[in-house]
Parts: sequence; C-alpha cells; structure tokens
Amino acid sequence: ARVAVVGGGQNCEHEVSLASAAAVAGALETAGYTVVRLTIDRDGGWRHGDDGCPVDLADAIHVLRTCDVAVPALHGPRGEDGTLAALCELAGVPYVGSGVLAGALAMDKWATKLIAADLGIAIAPGVLLTPSAAPAYRWTRPVVVKPVAAGSSQGVALVRDAAELPAALAAAFALDGRVLVEDLVVGREIDLAVLARPDGSRTVAPALEIVADGLFDYEQKYGGGADFRIPAALADTERKALEDAAVAMFDALGCAGFARIDFFLTADGPVLNEVNTMPGFTEQSQVPKMFAAAGVSYAELLDLLVRDVLG
Ligand code: DAL
Ligand code: MG
Repeated sequence: ARVAVVGGGQNCEHEVSLASAAAVAGALETAGYTVVRLTIDRDGGWRHGDDGCPVDLADAIHVLRTCDVAVPALHGPRGEDGTLAALCELAGVPYVGSGVLAGALAMDKWATKLIAADLGIAIAPGVLLTPSAAPAYRWTRPVVVKPVAAGSSQGVALVRDAAELPAALAAAFALDGRVLVEDLVVGREIDLAVLARPDGSRTVAPALEIVADGLFDYEQKYGGGADFRIPAALADTERKALEDAAVAMFDALGCAGFARIDFFLTADGPVLNEVNTMPGFTEQSQVPKMFAAAGVSYAELLDLLVRDVLG
C-alpha cells in the first residue's frame, strides 16, 4: 500500500515532528510500504518527496489522494490538533490516529482537564488566564505555568517565587493566548499508551515512568538526561487506577488508533496531566518503547496501526 507520512508543521515542535516522521517513514519502508513524504514548513509551505520539492496545498492534497492511508506524524497546533485530520477527512484520505474533535480536545489542555474532572479523574487545581484575566492573578504558592495548546514542554515553567511569574507568563502567552496556571503536583511521572483496535478492544502497554531531574522539560526530552523505566514499578491497585483513567480519557475524548496519556502518580492516586493524540514517535520515544516492552516492535506497531485503517 501507499502511505503518506506527513511531518514538520507550523509550531515549536517542528523539529520533533521531523524526527518522528523520518523514523516512521523509515520503518514503514522497511515493512514494505511505498512511503510518500509530505513536509509542512514552519511558514506553512508544503514539500513533497525525499528531496523536499516545494508544492502548493492543492498539489499536496493531490499527493495525499494518491495514497491509501496517511500517517500524520505532526505534533502540536496545526497538525496534532485535528487540523490534519480535517484535511484528510475533506480529501477523503483514511488516516492513522485520532479524528478532528479528539485531536482538538486533547491539544487543549484546559478542555482536557474539564473532561477529566467530569469523569471524576483527578487534575491539578488551577486557573485559566487570558490577557484580560492575567493582571488580577495573585501568586501564592508554587505553580506550573503552561500554554493551553503547545507541546514538548515549550513555554512551560515552574514558578517557585512570585518574582518569576511575569517572565513565565510572557513565555507562555508567546505561544498561546490562553495560559494554565496549575498547582505543582508532587508525584511520579507515569505515561500510559492506549491502543484501540477495530474490534473495539483497548490495549494498554506496560506503564512507563519518567525519571527526570525536576521538570521533564524540552532539554531533558530531547537532549537526553531523563530515564524511562518500563514497566514502571506499580502496585496492582495503582496500575489499575492508571489504566482505567487512561482508557476512560481515551474514550471520552473520542480518540482513535492510539494515544499517550500522561499522569502524575501521587499519594492520593493518579492525577491526569495531559493526553497526546500524536505523541513523539521515534523508536526511542515513549509509546514505541512501551509497546516494545510488550513484545511489539516499532515496525510491527506501525504496521498494525496502518493495517487497522486500511481494514
Ligand atoms: N508533544 C510531544 C511530541 C510528545 O508528547 O511526545
Ligand atoms: Mg504533549
């Protein structure tokens, strides 16, 4: 089959997405698929093929339509947020992963929290700040400041002192017009990967614990320095609580294919951090490593995701 692998994108995770797309394309080629590369530049221009020949949007859609399935290896706004899914929907091209609404909801960390709270899943207490609401905000305790819609921890800061707040807010508002200010959650950082099959079954891969030095920030995510422990050492009750919450979020958001659902495991149980409908997808990224621990190789995982869409 012919598979379009779309990478790049118009946001601060562009480089991360290029790495995911290159790894995905390589593995699919090895698995015997004909891979067609499409890359979105930072300025929104499209490129086609391994040599990155510039094409306009109409040509890019035409290329997509020559493919049996698309793999959107795009992270962050204008990609993971449902926009690429929308393009595929309108172009009539089947694609791997979540649809428009799930992508949009999961990209919006505030909407995700509202849904989690409605499901009875614990979330960090916090407030939404907009430019009009921010001046009235008073810092009283350690908080994490983050753009509502961004990724790879960009624009995220831990504020332990009121004096650090203005710079943290400015950095977050630079990426999004809405900013979350959340109480610092003290707990272990545990990621879950959910795989949804066409028969309706949900598989949760062995949980992954991130052992980072302080915030698991961009530098630790991509510069090394953080360790993953798979499977995370969990009591049965902890594992079940995490898995149940992960599947509940996956289904409530209407996710498809797969997603990575990130928690803090506190003394009182799991606290949802966020849902990623297109998480980092190199062979060294969390989701592929979690499935590898379950005996599903990187190439097998991609082949499965693609075959499930091809039907
Ligand atoms: N947003 C990054 C790519 C992740 O969640 O893995
Ligand atoms: Mg994310």
